[in-house]
Amino acid sequence: MAHQWQGVINEYRDRLPFGDDDPVVTLREGGTPLIHSTALDNRTGARVYVKVEGMNPTGSFKDRGMTTAMSHVLQTGKKIVAAASTGNTSASAAAYASIAGLSSAVILPAGKIAAGKLAQAIMHGATLVAVDGNFDDCLRIVRELTEKYPVALVNSVNPYRLQGQKTAAFEIVDELGDAPDIHVLPVGNAGNISAYWMGYNEYAGKTTLASMDETALHMPAVSTKLPQMWGIQAWGAAPLVLGHPVENPETIATAIRIGNPASWKYAEAARDDSNGFIDRVTDEQILEAQSILAAETGVFVEPGSAASIAGLLQAAEHGQVPEGATIVCTVTGNGLKDTATALSTKGSLDFDPIAPTVEAAAKELGL
Ligand code: F0G
Repeated sequence: MAHQWQGVINEYRDRLPFGDDDPVVTLREGGTPLIHSTALDNRTGARVYVKVEGMNPTGSFKDRGMTTAMSHVLQTGKKIVAAASTGNTSASAAAYASIAGLSSAVILPAGKIAAGKLAQAIMHGATLVAVDGNFDDCLRIVRELTEKYPVALVNSVNPYRLQGQKTAAFEIVDELGDAPDIHVLPVGNAGNISAYWMGYNEYAGKTTLASMDETALHMPAVSTKLPQMWGIQAWGAAPLVLGHPVENPETIATAIRIGNPASWKYAEAARDDSNGFIDRVTDEQILEAQSILAAETGVFVEPGSAASIAGLLQAAEHGQVPEGATIVCTVTGNGLKDTATALSTKGSLDFDPIAPTVEAAAKELGL
């Protein structure tokens, strides 16, 4: 019988801070496709894979960290979870809270959340609070809120979030047989780049600043090398590239519209210890990369995710991509979450209908 994927805690429990009898809140997240893209090979001269995190239960990588964070909340006895979010965390927190029997509160920058993500948070029963401010304001508020009230914080400053997110690196090594040469991913609050770096290190028998779980470190090494970590930010929200916080971050990629990332130090360590870099791309490059990936590789991602592809293409233009290198790009969220931005560059959607006959359809298609 084929193996049915059990979710990241059950699949990788021996490398996560959970015992055999600990309760697990899961929607069977993880186990996402790693797709080889010949189109991106041709554009870069490397061997390029995309890790399609939009295939997770709520359509983004956040589910990996939410299963671990929410499972740990059950051990604390708290009944309410809260998160600041640019959208995906709120969707994931609301979904996992619902199956855990907990209440969820999400603190969001008003008017800056893609419609699909907002719909998810509402449908999963979250209480929404819209703030006249940006993500960084929301995170400050939720941190204070969870210090003062009996509410559990499920943003990635909760170390259980990164524990779950590191499993994406495990899956990549398990599938490729070793770590890639280069790993490219979008950077917003900088939790994910820190989690991948931790995952790659722990699979190589090493630790990072973010590592917390002793048990993981007593496991045998699986990989023989570590990738360079390439982080990609949006041009108007690139604090790690500039080296200082950005007060008013702006980008159409609202998922990564963040000016003062919480995991700043971990991300810098991932960049420096891996001999990688953090660079930035414009909104135009992001939209172009989103189109290229959808049209040539069959994967529709949201703009924030396309930043990794845009960053790879830019690096290829700058001559930074080594010939034949194995490269994995994480595409973090599903394109269906934000169709409005994707279609904004595609012209009019008002079609002129044809007569309901096959002849008229054939004529329209030039057949
Ligand atoms: N891609 C997507 C689709 C995201 O939603 C996020 C972050 C990132 C990339 C960046 O990851 O923050 O770990 O560096 N979204 C958070 C949220 C902030 O609230 O959904 P990061």
